[in-house]
Amino acid sequence: MKEPAKTIRSRIIATGAYAPSKKLTNFDIEKIVDTSDEWIVERTGIKERRTCGTHEAASDLAFEASKIALKNAGLKAKDIDMIIVASVSTDMPFPSTACILQDRLEIKNTPAFDLNAACSGFIYSLSIADSFIRTLTYKRILIVGAEALTKFLDWEDRTTCVLFGDGAGAAILEATDEDRGVLSTKLYADGSLGDFITLEGGGSRNPASKDTLKKKQHFIKMKGNETFKVAVRALENLVIDTLKENNIKPSQLSILIPHQANLRIIQATASRLGLSMDKVMLNLERYGNTSAASIPIALDEAVRTGRVRAGDIVLLEAFGAGLTWASALIKW
Ligand code: ACO
Repeated sequence: MKEPAKTIRSRIIATGAYAPSKKLTNFDIEKIVDTSDEWIVERTGIKERRTCGTHEAASDLAFEASKIALKNAGLKAKDIDMIIVASVSTDMPFPSTACILQDRLEIKNTPAFDLNAACSGFIYSLSIADSFIRTLTYKRILIVGAEALTKFLDWEDRTTCVLFGDGAGAAILEATDEDRGVLSTKLYADGSLGDFITLEGGGSRNPASKDTLKKKQHFIKMKGNETFKVAVRALENLVIDTLKENNIKPSQLSILIPHQANLRIIQATASRLGLSMDKVMLNLERYGNTSAASIPIALDEAVRTGRVRAGDIVLLEAFGAGLTWASALIKW
């Protein structure tokens, strides 16, 4: 009798993360703008963040994180079939940071491209990589979230400059026929709310000029409070729907690894799931919001510290500019 065909899934076989060594604490920022450690901790949960040096860019962080992921996987760069870099603070509009990374890894011919879904970028990349693997197009894909967002901050705008940090996280996905891996991904966007979080200058709408500089259009602007409200609602629905569609009860979840933007948003999501905070991975107090890098940095820390183990049910979720939001459910 013919054996039933085995289901091919993608599985994260290794992770890696890297953040620049330079730390900027809330107390350091108190000296730059009218803010306080107390306000930042109470409203966001952030205590410090890492910042790139003058000559450091997103691809440098991506390269370091990727090298660690490759080492943890016991692989060489030539074993990778595709590279996706999620970032909204790429080295430059082109060539892509993924192509720059490919060159730094000293490999050629593998497809490589950047993906812009802001803070949801890592999960969007995971979803694309998962599809390529499940359709047997590629066997092994490197996905990286890499951000140098502090280069795009207006240090006179206290409503944004206290929030963001720099860093990168990488993951390598591989095909498996074992009963584990990525169970589902869900991706969403609502472009009608695009003006909530923007970086308006430097593109074809507002090419760099004296005027764009004067209007500070090369910096991140955010309607924080409006974004907060939409994020809480969208994420609460997203995590409930994700579990329901996979017939998983919140009590079966081993760990929630959320995008690290704001502790209050994370607490609201956990509370909607009835999940105690000790089942939630948190490191935003040390890194701030690193956009597309936040989930892979947190995931890497969870793996390294033994908080994620074989067989665990892991839920990733993110919300960001676009607006975009996304989830991934993984059996580790
Ligand atoms: N220090 C001191 N006071 C401040 C600061 C600061 N750094 N920033 C704002 N304030 C003041 C405001 O001026 C306001 O004062 P007012 O009441 O006198 O007008 C007061 O604090 C409250 O401001 P809110 O904006 O209402 O504060 P809120 O509680 O909403 O917190 C925050 C702001 C932290 C930005 C929150 O709204 C948030 O986290 N939003 C979501 C961010 C997010 O998830 N973004 C998506 C990802 S980002 C990306 O995709 C790139």
